[in-house]
Amino acid sequence: MCDRIRYMNKIIISPSILSADFSNLEKEISAVREAGAEWIHIDVMDGHFVPNITIGVPVVKSLRKTTDLILDTHLMIENPAKYIKPFAESGADILTFHYEACKSSDEVKEVISLIKSFGIKAGISIKPKTEAKEIFEYLPLVDLVLVMTVEPGFGGQEFMHECAMKIPQIKEKATENLIIQVDGGVNNITAKICKSLGATSLVAGSYIYGSKDYKQAIQSLL
Ligand code: DX5
Ligand code: ZN
Repeated sequence: MCDRIRYMNKIIISPSILSADFSNLEKEISAVREAGAEWIHIDVMDGHFVPNITIGVPVVKSLRKTTDLILDTHLMIENPAKYIKPFAESGADILTFHYEACKSSDEVKEVISLIKSFGIKAGISIKPKTEAKEIFEYLPLVDLVLVMTVEPGFGGQEFMHECAMKIPQIKEKATENLIIQVDGGVNNITAKICKSLGATSLVAGSYIYGSKDYKQAIQSLL
């Protein structure tokens, strides 16, 4: 599955199902697939790292059976090391954890190698108050960096422009293959800002799923 992840010279749109109709996720996912999406962003929240509770392992496992899209899984959870195995075995293609959820540099490295031990892509994410330089040492170890442009926890929030300035800081230190993903408040206007600063993947929840025409919404982000 992971060798289908292609990112060279291309903007990857990852619609966040947090804003989809949860009573019909299979239909919502095939709708964005038909509209041109190749990834699906799955927001996992534990009610501790963030104040909201959303999706867990059984849902990811069920979604795996219904779609061949890349399952781009964003873990907003405490103690990520404990949950890498079940999420990897549930069929996720990418597991992105939060730097702030780790207590030490050793723990960050342990989570990254654990993810990679399952043969899937590893991502590291930073919240708005975390500076880009705090994760520079991990850039050679990961496949993706997720820059949060809202406080994680909820969809539909406003894009924090100051967070986008971390994109070029990360890009400057990164290898060519690193995917720089932005999540939070992405729409047709903020997408342009992110792309011009060097982002290569955009997560969009309310902008896509809140629109009448998913195809047009996705096209407007490219
Ligand atoms: C927020 C989540 C996002 C969320 C984005 O904590 O990580 O993925 O779905 O939603 P929008 O695109 O509506 O800001
Ligand atoms: Zn997310």
